[in-house]
Amino acid sequence: DMIGMEEGVKGPLNLAAITTAKYFMPYLLGVFMRDYPGVEPNLTITNQAKVVGRLEENLDDLVIMGTIPENMDLEAEYFLDNPLVVVAPPDHPLVGRKNIPLDRLVEERFISRELGSGTREARRRLFAEHGLESKAYMELGSGEAIKQAVMAGLGISVLSIHNLRLELEAGLLVVLDVQHFPLVRQWYAVHLKSKKLSNTSRRFLDFLLQDGARIWQEINATRLVFPAHSAQPA
Ligand code: PGA
Repeated sequence: DMIGMEEGVKGPLNLAAITTAKYFMPYLLGVFMRDYPGVEPNLTITNQAKVVGRLEENLDDLVIMGTIPENMDLEAEYFLDNPLVVVAPPDHPLVGRKNIPLDRLVEERFISRELGSGTREARRRLFAEHGLESKAYMELGSGEAIKQAVMAGLGISVLSIHNLRLELEAGLLVVLDVQHFPLVRQWYAVHLKSKKLSNTSRRFLDFLLQDGARIWQEINATRLVFPAHSAQPA
């Protein structure tokens, strides 16, 4: 494979990503690694505050996030959409209702992400634009925990569709048909403007920009998995 011979695309690739990115980054990395088996990826998954701290300290080659800090001199490149949806348990009374008005949702118990979460802020802003306050019945610091709470019947929530793939497929959660949803946010690959990218991280960034969205779509469409025999011998 000639592409794999491309000069200098090997060695460490240090990435940090905001929590919800854990659902697609390993798959995209998996496809990239087929062409560049000499790359040694390292993916740190953490929350918004920590990701911003890592950016400030220049700890990573690239940071994957959705909310770009405004007071820093950054290069942020959009590579994938992040659709947010309203999610409920399958026996919820609103399941099957068409075009549910936003103000109907205010009556529901909302389970919210932690302060600093872009998902939470997007929901707050949408409700505010319509003169509504989106009060949280309960706050949980992870999308994973929120899914369990919704499945447990504690309430409904707004989460990234990336968070929900398996539960939707298994019928454990349902997306409600709510006006103004999906609310589409963006995923960005970010680094300090002053940073000089290594060949490896430049190549990975190009891969995300050129192929990331298409590959993720294909993975979702075909449930592509990585067969054990494609692994490189150590
Ligand atoms: P979050 O970040 O998972 O912390 O909400 C994603 C985003 O900012 O959209």
